[in-house]
Amino acid sequence: RTVFVNGEYLPETEAKVSIFDRGFLMADGVYEVTSVLGGKLIDFEGHAKRLERSLNELDMQKPEEFDDLLDIHRKLVELNGIEEGMIYLQITRGAPDDRDFVFPDPEATRPTLVLFTQNKPGLAANPVADKGIKVISIEDIRWGRRDIKTVQLLYPSMGKMMAKKAGCDDAWMVEDGYVTEGTSNNAYIVKDGKIITRGLSNDILHGITRAAVLRFAQEAQMEVVERPYTIEEAQAADEAFVTSASTFVMPVVEIDGAAVGDGQVGPVAKRLREIYLDESL
Ligand code: PDD
Repeated sequence: RTVFVNGEYLPETEAKVSIFDRGFLMADGVYEVTSVLGGKLIDFEGHAKRLERSLNELDMQKPEEFDDLLDIHRKLVELNGIEEGMIYLQITRGAPDDRDFVFPDPEATRPTLVLFTQNKPGLAANPVADKGIKVISIEDIRWGRRDIKTVQLLYPSMGKMMAKKAGCDDAWMVEDGYVTEGTSNNAYIVKDGKIITRGLSNDILHGITRAAVLRFAQEAQMEVVERPYTIEEAQAADEAFVTSASTFVMPVVEIDGAAVGDGQVGPVAKRLREIYLDESL
């Protein structure tokens, strides 16, 4: 695989990042995952805007290649022959001479920029979407700025492991009794034809797929309600689903052992997935 590190396209085995990199030592970094379908980037513009916002919120400098990111993405897709898959991009505050909690002087320490591709043939025609996934609920104990897409992913990783141990696929996180989001996706329920999802705030990541799916839903005359909901309400809903750049729209058929609706993939999630893929291809 050819990867991109600090201005250079290199074979992955030759790519290097310092052991003093603050991403490595302190999770002082932000990232984006952009999907590729039919060799085309999906929603690049949205991901670039959110990346810029994440950098601003953390007072992190833009790497000098910031304005060339679209070209870099396209070149990596081409060099690696990606038809279906994704591009991972990470920017950290860089590698100062020493470990220190205080941010390094931005004049002396340049941010680190890394991009690599992941080839995922069959991403669009994913058979899992025909059956749906099962989730468990866990307490949301992440920090309070979940709107910033940082690389602090230990708790979401632990959540996926808890789900796996319970024989499930993923976890929905709950704070003060209400669902925030999935470990790496936004969460929705459907009741009496209405699509219900938590509104945007610092409590959740402002999903790029979420924005697209809600727009498509409204264009298709489906009603969207942005408000928090509990696990009990989700279990009693007609349907549930999640969205993300890596799963698009993924139906959820079971929550904490209780079937959602009839336990099968419902019509709203199925239709939204079809619309999303049609519009993206
Ligand atoms: N995760 N919420 C969280 C906590 C996420 O990590 C993600 C994305 C989303 C969905 O955002 P988007 O639609 O922009 O992908 C919501 C990515 C895919 C990941 O970490 O791999």
